[in-house]
Parts: sequence; C-alpha cells; structure tokens
Amino acid sequence: MSVNFEIERFESETMEHLLGDYWIRVSDQIQLLNRLIFFEWASARVIAGWVPAASEFDWKCVMSKMIWENMTIADRLRMRKEELSGKSKITIPSKRFHEFLQDASAAEGFVPFVSGWFMEVTKAVIETYEALQSRLDPIFDAPTLDILNEIITKKRNHLNWANGLVRDAVHRKEVLSSVGAWRKFIQHYLQQIGGIEEQNPANGASKPHSPVSTPHGPAPKKRSCPQWLKVGSYDVVPDQFKDSLKIFMWHYATEIQVLDPMCYVFYGVDDMPFEFYVDFSRHIWDESRHHLMGMRRLRQLGYDAKDIPVPYSEDALQELEYFYAMLTMVGESCSFTRKKKSMDAYYRKGDIISGMTAEIDIVDERSHVQFGKKWATAIYKQRFDRDVSLDDVVKEVMDRSMKERAADFENMGEAEKQSISQLAFCGKIEFKYLNYENL
Ligand SMILES: [Fe+2]
Ligand SMILES: [Fe+2]
Repeated sequence: MSVNFEIERFESETMEHLLGDYWIRVSDQIQLLNRLIFFEWASARVIAGWVPAASEFDWKCVMSKMIWENMTIADRLRMRKEELSGKSKITIPSKRFHEFLQDASAAEGFVPFVSGWFMEVTKAVIETYEALQSRLDPIFDAPTLDILNEIITKKRNHLNWANGLVRDAVHRKEVLSSVGAWRKFIQHYLQQIGGIEEQNPANGASKPHSPVSTPHGPAPKKRSCPQWLKVGSYDVVPDQFKDSLKIFMWHYATEIQVLDPMCYVFYGVDDMPFEFYVDFSRHIWDESRHHLMGMRRLRQLGYDAKDIPVPYSEDALQELEYFYAMLTMVGESCSFTRKKKSMDAYYRKGDIISGMTAEIDIVDERSHVQFGKKWATAIYKQRFDRDVSLDDVVKEVMDRSMKERAADFENMGEAEKQSISQLAFCGKIEFKYLNYENL
C-alpha cells in the first residue's frame, strides 16, 4: 500500500511570519525546485537553439556539454523534488516566467545572446541557488544541499565561459553596444517580473520593449561555422587520409557537423517526455566528444585543424524527426562493423590511441542506437500523430535512403529493395574504399 501525503497543499505563510527567510519548509522547497527544474530544462533547449549560431567549433562543443549539464541538473533536482513531494510532474511555474525565458532567448546575435542568457539570467539563477542554500538546514535538507553544491560550481563555470567570450568580443564597437542594450533589457525585464522567483513583480506594468526587431535565434535560418574552415564533402576523401586507417580519425573529426542538426531537433521538438531530453542531451555531448577525439588524434599525427576539411552545409535543418531516425537507425546503427574492424586493425598495428578512440566511440554509439530505438517512434507520434512501430520507422528511412543513394542500389530490383534487411542495407551504404591495412 502506498502512502499518500499531500504535502504540497500545506500553507506556509504563517511560518514565514515566525521564521522569516531563515528556514524553508518542504512545501516551499517543492515549489522552488519545480521552478529551477523548469528553468534548467528550458535553458538546455535555449542553449541548443543557439548552437547553430556559434561560429567557433569550441563554442559549439562547450555549449553541447552545457546542454547535458543543464539536463543533468534538472534531472537530479527532479529526483529530489520527487522524494519531497511524491510526484515527478514538472509544471510551468507561471505563464509570465515562461514568456520571460522565451523573450530573453530572442537576441539579435550570438554574443548578445551569450551575454544576456548567462551574465544576466544564469547569474540571477545562481543567486537563487545560493539564496536557497542559505535557507536550507544541514540536517533536514542535507540531500538537497549536497546537490546544490555541485550545481552552483557547474553554473559558475558556465558564467565564467560567457564572461570570457563576451569580454573578448566587445572590442568591436557595434557588439559592445548591442550587448549593452540587450543586457539592460533583460535586467529591466527581470526586475519587472520580480526576479527568478517572481517575488513582488511590478504591478500592472507591461513587459519591457525588446530592443531587437528581428531576432537571429534560437534556431537561426543559417548555420555558422568558423571562417577558417575548409568545407569538405564525404564524397571527396582528403588525399592525406585516403587509403589508410586515418580516414576513421577524419570521420570522427567531422562529427562536429552533426551538432547543429541535433540541436535544431533538441530545440524544435516540443512536448516530448523529460527523459527524452536527458538522453538526447547526452547524445549531443557525446558527438562533440567524438569530434574532439578525432581532432586530437589527427593533431597528434601532425595535422593542423585548419587543413582538415569538414562537410558543412549552411541551411537550417527542416525535417527534425527524419533526421533523428536517420541518424540513429541508419548512420549510427550501420557503423559498427567498420568501426570494430578499424579498432582491431589499430590495436594489431600498435596504434593504441587510435584504437582506444574507436573503442570509446563504439561504446557511445551503442547507447545512441538504444536512444534511437527508445525515442524515434515517440517523435513520429508527437510530430505527425502517427502510431508507428520501430520496424516501420526503420523501413521508412531505409526506403528514403535508397532513393537518395540510387547509385548504390542500381543493381537491385524493386522486390529485393522491399525485402532488404537492415544488415544487408547497412552493407550497401558502407563507406567505400576503406583500407584497413595502412596506418
Ligand atoms: Fe559519433
Ligand atoms: Fe553517435
């Protein structure tokens, strides 16, 4: 038998008269944790929405990790809230707060966004965490305090990253002035809603007027990449990586190009369960690690990042659900055979670091495919209201892929195409001309 204890309905005003802001009761803590969980979740999505606008690869990588950290923070707080309330449901704290977060994400450009979201909004959230910390009792609330210590350190790191980026960018006059106007707008807005906790909001005043008429993001129409980037193509393997196992390290290095599309999905797909965003945030972060590990190995082998072509297209992703299904059910599912072969070859030939790179990638990909199996059908349901089985989704992406890669399937009849297994399909679309003999 479960015990139902409706703690959230307790009134706590009387206690505030007696103990001021020095203690916090469970019911108030639940409310505040819900607000902070909502914020971290929303923040992960907003940051994802701005990843395609980040022009430097290391910014995209840092932000990918932040998306995961925000979701992890939200998840830990959610578990604590569930302990306190017996409920895991996360609610929107208020329409006004929701609207504030949306308005505060619609900046004119990448640097103003970073300045407003981190140096104003995140900073205010850190202050909220610290204020909560000072009200929590080391005996009653030790489990919450333990989580908060970790959260505050992470959030401070995010803020420090933003400080450095903005400080570096404001040497340009126009950036300095748009950053100034944007931060002022957010400060004013925050004041008007009564801060992150919406205590004593301004009465009756309409919300502040945004200085931006056409926001650049979240989810910009065009993706940004470094000015120095040599844009390449998977169809044209760079000479220096051709006919050798180095092509695998090059493939890892190019995985940076998958972050933007994934982030369009993370930002753009609404109304999926909380757990989807937790899993997907880890998936996004992992892909940034794959880029970093490929780049590192190539650097160790004597290559300069600026000489490594990376396929990159400028347009925003449109078909979010198709991309997700394609990535997990074709791109990732079909990669194990060649990766395992490359790992064995690397170890056999004594290139241990490249072998370890492939091995870690295989470990990560295994969980990514699991994520895909768990969520691809749910995305189809949410986006198209279609009840499809995983087999249907796999079949659909294979069919479409066969049309798009007609040349790979020209010797195959229609009946054969219809009955092709996923394994046989994977064999057909494998990268060609792989050479496992030369290091
Ligand atoms: Fe990857
Ligand atoms: Fe992956």
